[in-house]
Amino acid sequence: MLFEQVEEARKYLSQYCKNEYKIGMVLGTGLGALAEVIEVESSVPYAQIPNFPVSTVESHAGELIFGLLDGVPVIAMSGRFHYYEGYSAKELSFPIRVLKALGVEKLILSNAAGSTNESIDAGDIVVIRDHINLHPDNPLRGMNDERLGIRFPDMLHTYSKRLRMLCKKAAGELDIKIKEGVYVGLQGPNLETPAEYKFINIIGGDLVGMSTIPEVIVARHSEMEVLAISVVSNKCFPIESLTETTLDEVIEVVNKASDKLIKLVRSILADI
Ligand code: HPA
Repeated sequence: MLFEQVEEARKYLSQYCKNEYKIGMVLGTGLGALAEVIEVESSVPYAQIPNFPVSTVESHAGELIFGLLDGVPVIAMSGRFHYYEGYSAKELSFPIRVLKALGVEKLILSNAAGSTNESIDAGDIVVIRDHINLHPDNPLRGMNDERLGIRFPDMLHTYSKRLRMLCKKAAGELDIKIKEGVYVGLQGPNLETPAEYKFINIIGGDLVGMSTIPEVIVARHSEMEVLAISVVSNKCFPIESLTETTLDEVIEVVNKASDKLIKLVRSILADI
């Protein structure tokens, strides 16, 4: 059962906890470099943690980092699991359950995303205000264990207004331009057709990507406060201006913008 599996992972990891960690981070594309500025207390390869998803061949074998970021205790997931790798939504979001069990109350996630909003460009930093879930799977599907959360979680306050405001304020002080938007999550791994990008724009999506939503649903189910930030890697709208996108381009654009994102996250950490 899920609850027991989470407990087993928690018990195993508790030997590595030297602090009280209230902040968790999912270092997706864009925040990976943040791992390098964490003063590491311990790092545990995912493969060592009971019940964690087993890495597929192509995916990075990640690790869970316990440490201090500018003096603030954090647990960071360096590397995440994606639906397109073959994991179910429940499996790929299991680490979020474990973070919660370890005491994490606030979760910061980052990702790379395409922009389906004409006024959001490649290289922009966009704080996610809301999402539209077009994943074919839901991490809460199946029997609900009330010890983990309620059957029908409300999603109105999923993306914490308080944390979004903190970001806005910090961005102003740092002179970093940020935008806000609605993230649409699809399963991938292929990118979208022009007609699909147009569809995403029409339904109110500003960003499109292949991660984050299952993790955020679990965070919400676990009553965590969520901050999710996208780094825009490619502009997908209007469709007349579309060019082919390669993974190398995505990584290059995101790496260039990641400094801004890392500065932003570091500057709000103490106030979170
Ligand atoms: N589509 C889906 N996921 C993405 C994209 C995109 O255009 N860019 C980065 N992640």
